[in-house]
Amino acid sequence: MKSGETSPPPVADAGPSALRRRLLAWYDTAARSLPWRAGPGSGSRTDPYFVWLSEVMLQQTTVPHAMPYFLAFTTRWPTVSDLAAAEDAEVMAAWAGLGYYARARNLLKCARAVAAEHGGRFPGTEAELLALPGIGPYTAAAVAAIAFDQPANVVDGNVERVMSRLFAIETPLPTARGELRARAAGFIDAASDRHGDWAQALMDLGATVCRPGVPDCGACPLAQGCAARAGGMPERYPLKLRKAPRPHRHGVAFVALKDGAVALVRRPERGLLGGMLALPTSDWRDRPWSPAELASSAPAAADWRLAGSVEHVFTHFSLTLDVYVGAAEVPGAEWRPVSEAATGLPSVFAKALQRGLA
Ligand code: ADE
Repeated sequence: MKSGETSPPPVADAGPSALRRRLLAWYDTAARSLPWRAGPGSGSRTDPYFVWLSEVMLQQTTVPHAMPYFLAFTTRWPTVSDLAAAEDAEVMAAWAGLGYYARARNLLKCARAVAAEHGGRFPGTEAELLALPGIGPYTAAAVAAIAFDQPANVVDGNVERVMSRLFAIETPLPTARGELRARAAGFIDAASDRHGDWAQALMDLGATVCRPGVPDCGACPLAQGCAARAGGMPERYPLKLRKAPRPHRHGVAFVALKDGAVALVRRPERGLLGGMLALPTSDWRDRPWSPAELASSAPAAADWRLAGSVEHVFTHFSLTLDVYVGAAEVPGAEWRPVSEAATGLPSVFAKALQRGLA
């Protein structure tokens, strides 16, 4: 090497403790400001209820989509005991649009267990959190680390991506999961007092810098220790096994009108969109429904008119829903004024209603 040229960093400088220092220093200046967060260095001053609620919401959606829901929930139910005392139907309606409705039911079960068994205060260890209904390994680790500053290994999709790039892991997901967890565990420093910051720093790095698709390596505090970057193709990681294509289903939704109100039905507790208010529908099956079949699938006899169709993508299948409108009497339905009927409906039915009323 010629004199005056900078030498590459010594290997020790890219070890876990150096990378930890650099990422935490980055987080001190770059942390996203989020309403459930008290900010870098705040450790156990973060409200465990806020952390738990945000983590459950964020398991299924992005920060921008979850934000208004988080604010609405915490305004209406400022503590876990307030949420525990809420009516099931009110919580389900407030959750509408977030998807994965079983999670909203589990949210309530968990809030009620914290209120009844823990005096309205979340327990502070990963093991106790895991024992609560509806709290899985990810949420237990996240709440333990972020709200109670415990040395928990918090691994979500962001952290998997960061680890897969940092170590250029050639094993595809989901097989690589255990390996990626172990790599993340290698960064936990039991002596640290910044476990919550560490977990959130990794998540923020994954969401804003080491993002899906093309990462912003120029802005990355770990770039010097990153094997994927050294290899020149960081966007190649994480490798993924090819998924089976999503099956497609077809159904019919009925917008039954009477005196300016629309008929809604409550779906059975078990199953997809369980316990949610909905438009009456046919079964959802793998071939389209013909107009001749309407009589067997409609909630009542009426002069049903086809208003169009809507598409919706669920985790395990996609759906085309033909929307029929008619004046009808639907026994046992809840009648809601047309102008407010979409509030509290899952997105697929809000879309179908809009199509029916257009
Ligand atoms: N995604 C999931 N949990 C998060 C958190 N606490 N901060 C930022 N992004 C997240």
